[in-house]
Amino acid sequence: MNVLGIETSCDETAVAVLADAQRILSNVVFSQIARHRPYGGVVPEIASRCHVEELPGLLRAALEQARLGWDGIDAVAVTQGPGLASALLVGLSAAQALALRLDKPLLGVNHLEAHLYSLFLDASAPRLEAVAPFIVLLVSGGHTGLIRVEGPGRYRLLGQTLDDAAGEALDKGAKLLGLGYPGGPLVERAAAGGDPEFVSFPRGLTQGQPGERAGGLDRDLCFSYSGLKTALLYYLKNHPGAAAGPDLPHLAASYQAAVFDALVERTARAIAREGVRAVGCAGGVSINKTLRARLARLAEQTGVRLLLAPPPYCTDNAAMVAAAAFRRLPLPAGAEQRPTLDAQPDLGFG
Ligand code: KG4
Ligand code: ZN
Repeated sequence: MNVLGIETSCDETAVAVLADAQRILSNVVFSQIARHRPYGGVVPEIASRCHVEELPGLLRAALEQARLGWDGIDAVAVTQGPGLASALLVGLSAAQALALRLDKPLLGVNHLEAHLYSLFLDASAPRLEAVAPFIVLLVSGGHTGLIRVEGPGRYRLLGQTLDDAAGEALDKGAKLLGLGYPGGPLVERAAAGGDPEFVSFPRGLTQGQPGERAGGLDRDLCFSYSGLKTALLYYLKNHPGAAAGPDLPHLAASYQAAVFDALVERTARAIAREGVRAVGCAGGVSINKTLRARLARLAEQTGVRLLLAPPPYCTDNAAMVAAAAFRRLPLPAGAEQRPTLDAQPDLGFG
């Protein structure tokens, strides 16, 4: 069964065709970064216009790369949320029109679940069912959370950020450091050779009382990054010109360490509490080599298996969207083949 996946939730326009959840026939991505860079961040109107312009060509390219005609597509999967409403609508409209024209099932996919499935995209990766139960640290531009995966479609949110996401913290920090957009890769590059202990930036939430809750979740598994960017802002006010001088690598490394310390500490706590044998890390920030190395060390110390997506599938792509649809296929008898899918900009996990 060949599933065509479409992703337009933010600033990547992407199409892929998968023959099963781990067999990628084609995967094409158009990154809009250059279009948004002059504005220092994603401009929703530009994102949706760019999706409209790029999607037809990417659909053709994905079919060509998969060596398939339209008659070779058995189902259409599309990101339904979370994301930018106007951007999501472009993918949803295209997917609905295609499914109708091809007379095939249409599936709306949660973008966060899609990131989770990126951990299993590699043909050499295990199947989700084989490693569950496990924990996933989801770190993207808009979300940061810890999820317990019981099995396909069975997820429980353990903790999440109370304010900024990890990727957002890196993006905001990069702006303050004068590095530009998108922040994550620029901070990673600037931090090379820097001393992560040069400045001790705050690590977010301090440990709470036993059993303390935050937003209905275990406070000790939650994150807070809003104080971190303020700390950097004040540091730069008190040290004018520091970001333009030789201390830049140290500042970038120290800032990045504060973001990652909080991630690794909560993940360690979740592993201990949940008693799982595997931990995964997915989402755009998980492409970061320093974070990957730190999680590898944690996995070794705690004796759990580490699941990471191959780098091209960490950031937004459509292969993961198609992959996440397979667990629901074939649709059960009597299920609606092509439901009307509204954009769900605030869709959460589980
Ligand atoms: O998952 P993603 O592509 O989009 C969302 O669903 O949000 O994640 C984008 C985030 C951005 O905040 C970006 O700065 C971050 O991933 N990112 C990185 C790196 N590359 C992208 N963060 C740290 N290091 C990187 N090399
Ligand atoms: Zn994403």
